[in-house]
Amino acid sequence: MAGLFITLEGMDGAGKSTHIPTILQLLASGGREVVSTREPGGTPLGEELRELLLHREMHVETESLLMFAARAEHLQQVILPALQRDAIVVSDRFTDASYAYQCGARGLPMHKMQQLEQWVQGELQPDVTLLFDVPVEVSLQRLASARTPDKFEAQGAEFFARLRSQYLKRAADYPQRFRVIDAHRPIEEVKKTVEEIILSI
Ligand code: TMP
Repeated sequence: MAGLFITLEGMDGAGKSTHIPTILQLLASGGREVVSTREPGGTPLGEELRELLLHREMHVETESLLMFAARAEHLQQVILPALQRDAIVVSDRFTDASYAYQCGARGLPMHKMQQLEQWVQGELQPDVTLLFDVPVEVSLQRLASARTPDKFEAQGAEFFARLRSQYLKRAADYPQRFRVIDAHRPIEEVKKTVEEIILSI
């Protein structure tokens, strides 16, 4: 596959969305086509599934299957065609979020997630994953002062602690792909780090 697949990850409240415009601008200045997308979502069907996933309570297996249903559509309709035409794809979340939220925080057994991953994406993995990391309390504080929380944002400290530790474990397990960004710093400093990483890719 010729293109470049970049994913952005982090707990809710880690601030990743703030830096997306900078990332897209820098990448576009290189002259290649850049496709900006997100999960769950990224297609009309995926966006409908997102509404259910973010607002309806459901069993963790149902949630995982719906995440991967949205992901299958996203891969087939958006991500794979873009990579095949040599574009750079930037996805606000991908499968690492499923490992962090559904396995780490909600307890789905890893082997079930691995089966879904293998089925839906085969050997495809992001080339680079930027993990925006903040302490749990920071994330919770930021969310408390933000808009009405969705189902995931409304969870408590223990959920967020499991989430963070699973994200950091994945970063440690796949060090060649992950760039962990300390996002608990002034926004300008985080922006500078993000710029350095993007320029280095
Ligand atoms: P966000 O787009 O604001 O980050 O919200 C998406 C939410 O969905 C976020 O709370 C993380 C959650 N999520 C999962 O639980 N599993 C997944 O596989 C993905 C992609 C997202």
